[in-house]
Amino acid sequence: MRPNLTVNIGKLKLKNPVMVASGTFGTGYGELVDINLLGAVVLKTITLKARHGNPPPRIAETSSGMLNSIGLENKGVEDFIKNGIQKLKDIKALLIASIAGDDENEYGTLAKRLNRVGRIAALEINLSCPNVKHGARESLIAQDEKATYSIVRAARRATRLPLIAKLSPNVTDISKIAIAAQRAGADAVLLVNTFPAMAVDVDTKKPKLGNITGGLSGPAIKPIALKMVWDAYNKLDIPIIGCGGIMDTNDAVEFILCGASAVQVGTATFVNPNAPAEIIKGINKYCAKNGINDMNELVGSMKVGAL
Ligand SMILES: Cc1cc2nc3c(=O)[nH]c(=O)nc-3n(C[C@H](O)[C@H](O)[C@H](O)COP(=O)(O)O)c2cc1C
Repeated sequence: MRPNLTVNIGKLKLKNPVMVASGTFGTGYGELVDINLLGAVVLKTITLKARHGNPPPRIAETSSGMLNSIGLENKGVEDFIKNGIQKLKDIKALLIASIAGDDENEYGTLAKRLNRVGRIAALEINLSCPNVKHGARESLIAQDEKATYSIVRAARRATRLPLIAKLSPNVTDISKIAIAAQRAGADAVLLVNTFPAMAVDVDTKKPKLGNITGGLSGPAIKPIALKMVWDAYNKLDIPIIGCGGIMDTNDAVEFILCGASAVQVGTATFVNPNAPAEIIKGINKYCAKNGINDMNELVGSMKVGAL
């Protein structure tokens, strides 16, 4: 018998726990991979108005990871509703829209605009992009419990869609921010976005990114992201979606054992667009091999105590 891989995130029912992370997965990959196998596709973050993004270069490879400073380039929510969503019509997998704004009003408006776009199954609230400024704010929204609460609250009031709050790893205690998102009505938290980071070309003495700094992703961040999931797991009542450096099945299972109900895969798809599909197969095999009938039994089941 095949193990049950179905996972519930609020009202959202995923057929398996593997999603592709916002901004990393070209929907044009449809020619290379079967997108419909995925638990969900998280779309690139959209904002109220179009954004041109940051100056190039916007991507740089680092040891065991990559830096990006895309800066949320997108054509704005109205273009997405008018044209963008049409381009996704052949994708049968669940679509999750990701939104970012400067303040509560913008997040509320975005959530309201997307509320009735039939194909959108849930909203991911990006509170944590290290490559953009949120209005006059010096810090990220997800570095501030109060701001996290009020923005998730504004989105909660504007939509009945399931809400996922995407948090930043660049905080002292991630569980405090996660609890603020939960209190405000988030159905899940996503841990984590990229880590603020940089790299320098010693020959030119210039930064490798046009924006000087960017966000670090890939295997380099996995152990830190994992600890954040573990730290938050026992303190939350809502599910955690784990993200950060997941390259293969073992990485995904590690996140699940530490408390993630589902995972997102980003940088891995730059190396192998089929990684998410291979991870779904791998989780199936892992469950079968270990006599697990329901993947949900694995969530948070890491054994602690004497080694
Ligand atoms: C090129 C690139 C673009 C990204 N764009 C977004 C974005 O638009 N919105 C967002 O919430 N996260 C964005 N991210 C962050 C990823 O969704 C993910 O949280 C992060 O890369 C960590 O996962 P990974 O190590 O598996 O890549 C981006 C990451 C990369 C590498």
